[in-house]
Amino acid sequence: MVALCVLAFLYSAYYDDVYREKERYESQSIELVTEVGGKVVGLIDIECENEPHTICSSSSDGDELHVAGMIWHLAVHPDFRRQGIAKGLLQKAMEESRELGLSRLEAWTRNDGQAEMWYQKQGFQRAESYYHIYIDSDEVTPEILNTQVPRMYLRSAFAHYTGDDMSVVSKFKRVYRCSRYNLILK
Ligand SMILES: CC(C)(COP(=O)(O)OP(=O)(O)OC[C@H]1O[C@@H](n2cnc3c(N)ncnc32)[C@H](O)[C@@H]1OP(=O)(O)O)[C@@H](O)C(=O)NCCC(=O)NCCS
Repeated sequence: MVALCVLAFLYSAYYDDVYREKERYESQSIELVTEVGGKVVGLIDIECENEPHTICSSSSDGDELHVAGMIWHLAVHPDFRRQGIAKGLLQKAMEESRELGLSRLEAWTRNDGQAEMWYQKQGFQRAESYYHIYIDSDEVTPEILNTQVPRMYLRSAFAHYTGDDMSVVSKFKRVYRCSRYNLILK
């Protein structure tokens, strides 16, 4: 499953944000896989809240009092895409989510095209966005990165930017808009 994630994310905006072990969740979770010929080719992991807003965002979508589920991982092997595997996993996960009393599924994703298009196609609505900025060594300036530790020189960094000043964002080469998507479960 770790190998599937590495391969699935290799050509996505998350290519260097992968885990070396299968993630475990503190709360109850829905973890589903699709197998073809004994090989895992798709997976979805959802962590379910016991209390509202302990995992998912507090939302202004009218469901503030209800529990939701966070989609932490969704991946399909590149050779098995566009065959409805992710859609099938979501449908099964939605059934299980309803049985557990969840009112909403939440997902965060970067604007790399395929994942955003997929969430939108499945009926998820974008609720909010901010920026993920990777600051490379040639983009480091004292104004951006400053350390008080003697003889330590920061060479790169990862930043969240929640403002909307595009002149800040446009200074950097590797920038993603990261968006929260919601799917209301009826
Ligand atoms: C996003 C991802 C899970 C979709 O998996 P999938 O099994 O290929 O998706 P499905 O077959 O269920 O797609 C259902 C529909 O979504 C839309 N869709 C899927 N991939 C798309 C893409 N790359 N571009 C545009 N629309 C897409 C299509 O409308 C598709 O239906 P169609 O093939 O009949 O046109 C897969 O591309 C993936 O693993 N990407 C890398 C990992 C990732 O980005 N995960 C999400 C990060 S949070």
